[in-house]
Amino acid sequence: MFVQPGETFYSQVGGHETFVALVHAFYEGVREDPELRALYPEEDLGPAEVRLRMFLEQYFGGPSTYNELRGHPRLRMRHVGFAVTLDMRDRWLRHMYAAMDQVDLPEAHAEQMRDYFFRAAHMLVNSDDEGNRL
Ligand code: HEM
Repeated sequence: MFVQPGETFYSQVGGHETFVALVHAFYEGVREDPELRALYPEEDLGPAEVRLRMFLEQYFGGPSTYNELRGHPRLRMRHVGFAVTLDMRDRWLRHMYAAMDQVDLPEAHAEQMRDYFFRAAHMLVNSDDEGNRL
């Protein structure tokens, strides 16, 4: 994809507002999915929403607030405490793709994002279906 000088993927998809809407829609899906919801330790999903939003903004070329507040992402390490099975991966992805459909993204950008989420989610699988660590 051709990116104008000074432009980032982040700004091309609409910047902060887009990521707020995307991650909010994603967590609405998580809230309605008891099995996936059970993995999240906090009663209030608000802080998790902010962390994921900051991470994605940074990943896609926006402000690096995530790193400033949380340090290097090391996502696999940060997911070690949660049994991420293939089923959880698929649930996570289903909610993220549904959230993307609710946010108006240029198709070429949407494709790249889906591809990233697919690969990232697979990389985080750390347990088999019985919950045994891989
Ligand atoms: C594969 C399915 C996944 C499951 C089941 C899962 C589950 C979780 C859970 C339970 C948390 C803890 C909530 C919190 O306190 O923040 C978390 C945190 C987080 N997840 Fe995931 N996640 C998945 C995939 C992903 C993917 C694909 C990404 C990024 C593209 C991601 C990014 C994050 C981030 C940034 C945090 C916050 C880390 C921190 O700063 O503490 N997760 N995830």
